[in-house]
Amino acid sequence: MTGMAAARAHTNIALIKYWGKRDDVLYLPTSTSLSFTLSSLYTDTCVRFVDGAAEDVLVLDGEVQDAASTAKVTRVVDLFRTRYGVGDSAAGAAFGADAPRVRVESHNHVPTAAGLASSSSGFAALAFALRALFEERYPDAPRMSDTELSTFARRGSGSATRSIFGGFVEWVYGTGSDDSVAVPVDDAQWDVAMVLVALSTQKKKISSTYGMKHTAETSAFYPLWREVSEKDLDEVRAGIRERDIDRVGAAMEANCMKFHATMFAANPPFTYLTSRSLEVIEYIQELRAQGLSVYYTMDAGPNVKVLCRRSEQPRVHELLAQRFPNVTLFDAGAGSGPRILSEQ
Ligand code: DP6
Repeated sequence: MTGMAAARAHTNIALIKYWGKRDDVLYLPTSTSLSFTLSSLYTDTCVRFVDGAAEDVLVLDGEVQDAASTAKVTRVVDLFRTRYGVGDSAAGAAFGADAPRVRVESHNHVPTAAGLASSSSGFAALAFALRALFEERYPDAPRMSDTELSTFARRGSGSATRSIFGGFVEWVYGTGSDDSVAVPVDDAQWDVAMVLVALSTQKKKISSTYGMKHTAETSAFYPLWREVSEKDLDEVRAGIRERDIDRVGAAMEANCMKFHATMFAANPPFTYLTSRSLEVIEYIQELRAQGLSVYYTMDAGPNVKVLCRRSEQPRVHELLAQRFPNVTLFDAGAGSGPRILSEQ
């Protein structure tokens, strides 16, 4: 018994956005989302039992984190303590003094300059490592599938649900907590890739958690969001089935702009986009007019993610580097689901 486990999980970028919760505690989304798991950006997380400790500990890139960040991790570890029969957090009961506490050490392999760090890979790696840790100590408990595991990652951060699988992945709306899960839809081993345009390294001023809540509560456009998003989702699904990057890209862009429109229509209004984001968009449109299959999407920040053909990725990278010489670019292909790391 080592009492230790380590896992690697990759970041994902949403083509169809998750933007709003219908349950803030269970992290149930207001619509189904769909993403592309990236090969080159990931988090490695090592977890170990610290018997006799009073609290869980979180160390991120070498620094011990404060109570607020640690509480988010404890929230997820509590689900595992309950699942493996060492307490009942759902009922609000305190865990006994003998309940195992966990030390979590996490390293983001997202270049710090990227401003692309994502909670998706972090919570997916945490959940994946915790399953291995608890399974080893409690081998008699029923086994946990990746599908069930995705509901545990979800409770850390919604987008982490989708990082439990590789390629194109859906996080389905579901009827409740047990079936609002990640579903792999395609391994993306075809002519598709991304170039990430890192315009800003700043931490976002408005967190996605707050941004989506404010939008859902005040935006005049939000009541339309679920319906229009479902139509875009159907288009992206069809495009993936046909391996038609132009169909996937056009629907992805349309969904991205409707997503940002919900924020323009919030009260008070806000946006994550900057003039630099719009410059990149304009250039992508120019490149498309020249015959390249390039499409953009942006999330809760100004950085632009460009979907392109894998075969054209070096050319797209080169053109973007020439046009925006002071901007950092990252190339990514389709990433795999999480895996256990044998040595840390
Ligand atoms: C814009 O998953 O970070 O990236 O569930 O509150 O932790 P919480 O939010 P988070 O939101 C991601 C929002 C998004 C779109 C997406 O990834 O689908």
